[in-house]
This record gives sequence, C-alpha cells and structure tokens, in this order.
Amino acid sequence: MGSETPIHILLVSYPAQGHINPLLRLAKCLAAKGSSVIFITTEKAGKDMKAVNNITDKSATPIGEGSLTFEFFDDGLKDDDLIKIGFDGFSKQLELVGKQFLSQMIKNHVESNEPISCIINNPFFPWVCDVAYEHNIPSALLWIQSTAVFTAYYNYFHKLVRFPSDSEPYIDVQLNSSLVLKHNEIPDFLHPLSKYQFLGELILGQFKNLSKAFCVLVDSYEELEHDFIDYSSKNSILMRSIGPLFKNPIIKDANNIRGDFVKSDDCNIIEWLNTKPKDSVVYISFGTLVYLPQEQVNEIAYGLLDSKVSFLWVIKPPPKEMGLKEHVLPNGFLEETNERGKVVKWSPQEEVLAHPSLACFITHCGWNSSMEALSLGVPMLTFPAWGDQVTNAKFLVDVFGVGIRLGYGLMENKLITRDEVKRCLLEATTGEKAEELKKNAGKWKKAAEDVVAVGGSSDRNLDEFIEDIKKCGI
Ligand code: UDX
Repeated sequence: MGSETPIHILLVSYPAQGHINPLLRLAKCLAAKGSSVIFITTEKAGKDMKAVNNITDKSATPIGEGSLTFEFFDDGLKDDDLIKIGFDGFSKQLELVGKQFLSQMIKNHVESNEPISCIINNPFFPWVCDVAYEHNIPSALLWIQSTAVFTAYYNYFHKLVRFPSDSEPYIDVQLNSSLVLKHNEIPDFLHPLSKYQFLGELILGQFKNLSKAFCVLVDSYEELEHDFIDYSSKNSILMRSIGPLFKNPIIKDANNIRGDFVKSDDCNIIEWLNTKPKDSVVYISFGTLVYLPQEQVNEIAYGLLDSKVSFLWVIKPPPKEMGLKEHVLPNGFLEETNERGKVVKWSPQEEVLAHPSLACFITHCGWNSSMEALSLGVPMLTFPAWGDQVTNAKFLVDVFGVGIRLGYGLMENKLITRDEVKRCLLEATTGEKAEELKKNAGKWKKAAEDVVAVGGSSDRNLDEFIEDIKKCGI
C-alpha cells in the first residue's frame, strides 16, 4: 500500500462536538491506512479546536501511511448572530455557504491533478451527497448514532411500521421482528409531542437522498448490533460497521490530534483518579449539548452526598448565546465532598473511562459516550435527555445489559429525586447487580477489542470500504 498514490478523501462535519469526534476518528483511521484525508468543518469550530488542540489548517500532518489536513469554511455569520441558536436557520445557512466551498475545493483538486475519490458526510449535512453527485464523485455517510436508531429513522421515512402520531401519540413501535420500543423509547425527534421535531426533519433529509451515498458507515460493531446491520443490508443498503472508531489501534499514535472545543480547567484529573481504589469512582457527564434544569442538578448533588461515593462530575458552562444560567451547586457541597469528589468543566473522557478506578458512568447516553463506555467496559446509569439518547438508554439497559435506568428523557418532565439517585448509585456499585453489569460490560469491551484488531470485522470493513473507493477509480 505504501508506494501507491494515495486516494484523496474529503470528510465534511457539522460543527458540533458529537459529530466532529466520530468524523475525526474516521479521518485518522483512513489516513493511517494510506489515504490523503481532508477534514472540513466551519471556521468557528476550527477556531475553537485550534485554541485547545495542537492542530493547524491547510498543512498535511502525516498519520501512518497517509496524511490529514484540516480546512475550515466561513459560515458567513457574525459570532453573535441569533441564527446560530436556531438549528433550522443555521443549517440552511451552512448549506448555502458549504455547497459553494465544497464545489470550489473539488474544482481546485481537479486542477492540481489530485482529484477527490470520495466525500463522506454526517447526517446533519445531507446536501454534501448532492454536491458529490453533481461532481460525479462517490459519497458515503458516516451515521454517528446507533444502527438501531438508523433503523428507526429508516422505518419512519419509508412508513414501514406505525409510529406515534397526533391521533395515537402513545403507541408502541415494532422496530424489527424481535424488538418493540415504547412510545417514549423511540428517538424523540420523531415523536409528535417532542419540541425538537425540526431536528427529526433535518435527519430525515438524509434519508431522502440516501440512495446518492454508495455506503453507510456506522460507528458500531457487528457483535453489538448484528440484527440491525443485517436488517439494513436486507433493505439493499451497503452498511459497514467500523466502530468503535476511537479504539482502533491504528490511530493510537495520532491520539494528540483531537477536535475538542473546550479545555479542561483542571490538569490533574488523571492524577486524582490514580489516588482512588479500583472500581470506586462514579463519572458524571451529560455530553456537550444537554443542560439539565437546576432543580435536577440539585437532586444529583444531594444523591452524591447521601450515597457517599467518590465522583468526577463534568459541569460545563452553557454557551453564551443560549442565554442560560450557569449551574450552581448546593451550599457547602464542594467543601463537604472535597476529599472524594471533583467537579470540572471538561474531562479527557476516553482516558477517564479507561481508568481502573472507574465504577460507573452517569450518562446522557449520547452515542459517542455510550460507545466509549461500552467498549471500555464501564457500567452506566442512563439519564437521557432527548433524541437518540432515549433509545440508546433502552438498549444499554434492556439489550446490552450494562445499565440501570435512572432518567426517562426530558419529554417525560419527571424530576429524578436524590433518593432515586442514591438507590441507583448503590445498586450499580455494590452487590449482585453491580457484578452482573460489570461482567456484561467486560464482554462488550473484549468484543470491541477483537473487532478493531487486524482482521476483526470493523477493521476488515474499513479496508473493504477503501477498496470500494478504489474500484470506483477516481
Ligand atoms: C450529540 C447528541 O446529543 C447525541 O445524542 C448524539 O448521539 C451524538 O451527537 P453529545 O450530546 O455531544 O452528542 O454527546 P456524545 O455523543 O456523548 O458526544 C460527546 C463527546 O464529547 C464524546 O466523544 C465525549 O468523549 C466528549 N467529551 C464530553 C469529552 O471528551 N469530555 C467531556 O468532558 C465531555
């Protein structure tokens, strides 16, 4: 492979952390396997990434046998433009400027005799497939959520099964031949009572032009989601599971190339974890977009106080433009938990989850966090907010057997009390249930290690994907 001329692959990511992370991991894997990869997102995201990480734009960094270059496009908006708050207007603006940028870049590559062989996008940028199609370039989608959630959207879009509607909002959904989701377990962007239905529309836009992508890549793995991967193949979709991307050993040396928007205010997190006994610390994080009501934060804080566990809690300040107040912790909380607790604004999550001192993870069940915890063998207390998170919670608890249900999603509007927090924490950290969760989590960890090793299903699928691109011959 080393002496071959590298193929040029573009990856275009929506400027959100939960999208950038999996796309950047894929970019590094493709580069490590010999491709010349260009990672594109907006200038604003690029500015945040450059402020925190050691990355530069427009110059290629060697990774394995290939290379990775960052390119950022101007979203055409002032930093304080209110369009940025509403996803809908912002997405339309990004489509407008992104299409022009991408077309120009494709032309530049043709002129410099380095034509683009494939363009990969994620579900919030369905227009990328249109640009690829216009330029006669093969395109692929990196689906950044679970394959089960992909199936839900697919079934909804093609009206293959009944979903909750205005007249029947509480019906169950038969996801495939063996699995039924309750109305509050479907990705709630598809629910008639959700206030985020416009996001469902955005994602369904991807299903409208799915036929333009020759392949759907998923950051998941065979052993975990075999039935759903198989279901997609039966529907004539070339689906390749290539996850867990972050765990692929070929990108180990590129660990320093990261897309974090935030830097931790505390450099001693791992040192602090080193001082804690094995299986003793509860890690709490709700991803990058979810902001819990203050009242709920209070209940979690008192639950931690009452249960007396050690904990590492990520509490991020909300982005300024959202106009939300920063969370405050109950009076005396930090003093009382000084020895056994740490509160930070950001953590190196992969390292934290891999640390032997971790006992369990209170998570909002974003797919990246779920994948990271599953494949690092960490049991979870599921506390979803919206979207795919409620479906992921169902799978973590009832299908994968690694979780205890704590929250039910913001649509349920239910305050989880300190007593429930305490009860679930104790159940997940001591006794028979804790043992069972740990055993199941260990099984998924081992499976994850096997699939990304040389010859494992995910690693093979990645190789086959690159071969598919080469066969297209651009
Ligand atoms: C969004 C959606 O909310 C989620 O439902 C969807 O599945 C993916 O896109 P987000 O809420 O940001 O994602 O959560 P998640 O998918 O878990 O991604 C967060 C990423 O940030 C993870 O890779 C996690 O490791 C990283 N992170 C988060 C850190 O590195 N440090 C932190 O302190 C918090």
